[in-house]
Formats: sequence, C-alpha cells, structure tokens
Amino acid sequence: MVMIASTLACTTQGDDAAARSGSVGAPQHAPERYGVGRSATPTEITAWDIDVNAKGEGLPPGEGTVAQGAMVFAKSCASCHGAAGEGITPNPRLVGRIPGDSFLFATDLKAVKTIGNYWPYATTLFDYIRRAMPQNALGTLTSNETYAVIAFLLHENAIVPTDAVMNATTLPAVQMPSRHRFVMDDRQGGARFK
Ligand code: HEC
Repeated sequence: MVMIASTLACTTQGDDAAARSGSVGAPQHAPERYGVGRSATPTEITAWDIDVNAKGEGLPPGEGTVAQGAMVFAKSCASCHGAAGEGITPNPRLVGRIPGDSFLFATDLKAVKTIGNYWPYATTLFDYIRRAMPQNALGTLTSNETYAVIAFLLHENAIVPTDAVMNATTLPAVQMPSRHRFVMDDRQGGARFK
C-alpha cells in the first residue's frame, strides 16, 4: 500500500512545475523501507499456517479413534455441548440428523443445524475445532485429540462406524450427508453477479 501510494505521488506531483509551485500539502515521498520489523522465521510461519481446506490439505499428522474421542469430548466439550452433543443453551447442538436427511432449512427456520444435518465437509471440523474449541481453553487439544473428538462427533452423527480412525487420509474421505446440498459459487462478476 505504501509503495503504491508513493508511486502515485511521484507520477502526479513529481514534475518540476508542481515542485516549484511549492503547493502546501503535496504528498511526501514515503521511504522505501521504514526500518522496522523483520522477516518471519519459517517456524513462526508454520505456527500460524494452520488452515485446513475442504480437500483436507493442511491436515497435520496424527490420528484418533471414536473411543478416544469420547474421552476427549467428556473432558473438554460436554460441559458446554452436553454429554452426547445435544447442546446446552446457548451452546449449540452438534449432533442430530433429520429423518431422510431432508434439508428443510429454507422452509423451517427453527430447524437446528448440526454437523450431521448441515456441514458439507468433515475436514472443516479439524480447521474449526483446532482454531476455536474448546472455547474456554483454546489451543489445548493435540492433533491426536482433535482427530479423536472428530471421530466421536462423526460417529454420534451416525456418519462413521464405531471402529473409525480419523487421520489426514480418512477424514477427507468421509462423505457428509448434506454434501450434495451445496454447489460451488462460480459466478464471475458482471451481469451474472447478484
Ligand atoms: C465454554 C463452552 C464451550 C466448550 C468447552 C466447547 N465449546 Fe464448542 N462451542 C461453544 C459455543 C458458544 C459455540 C458457538 C460459537 C459460535 O457460533 O461462534 C461452539 C461451537 C462449536 C462448534 C460449531 C457448531 C456449529 O455447527 O456451528 C463445534 C463443532 C464445536 N463447538 C465443537 C466443540 C468441541 C469438539 C469441543 C471440545 C473439544 C468444544 N466445542 C468445547 C462453546 C463451547
């Protein structure tokens, strides 16, 4: 931003006439560098670079089972989300499918969205939980515990079997019940953009 602004200033104000006019308030050249800060180290970048996309790119090593996840959930999540993920007001319900997996959210505005009836990608669970949960102790779960609690939540939502193991390979392969309800937004702008 600074560089662009200073380039524009040179173009519009840099000719001799403008300089001689000595106009008050003419933009000053910004220095090329301010001499503050330093390049982030690879370790620092790695610590921040934690996003996981829908395809599962960015998932870390590690794994966890449904049984292990049940323990993580009881210890770190149930106090807010209920023992079986049923939700405790105002903390959201995480578990529950709608009979026939009907997607009635447009017509029934009171229908409660859960992981099982709404979320299109299982991989989002990793990204979200690692960033945002447990809400009262952020960043305390290991990767193994995160995979495990996801295995538990997917099992509670009747999406994976009791012996499921979640890791960087199995999690992206999970087919979420509502995946087909979502389409990519491929609008290019212009007349088609609403
Ligand atoms: C201190 C209370 C608290 C604890 C503990 C907690 N959560 Fe949450 N959780 C919340 C609240 C509040 C929200 C809603 C946040 C929002 O919508 O911004 C939420 C939202 C979520 C969501 C998103 C629900 C949705 O469909 O939008 C997931 C998934 C989730 N929590 C998982 C977990 C897991 C897994 C744990 C344990 C590792 C956990 N939470 C522990 C309070 C908590």
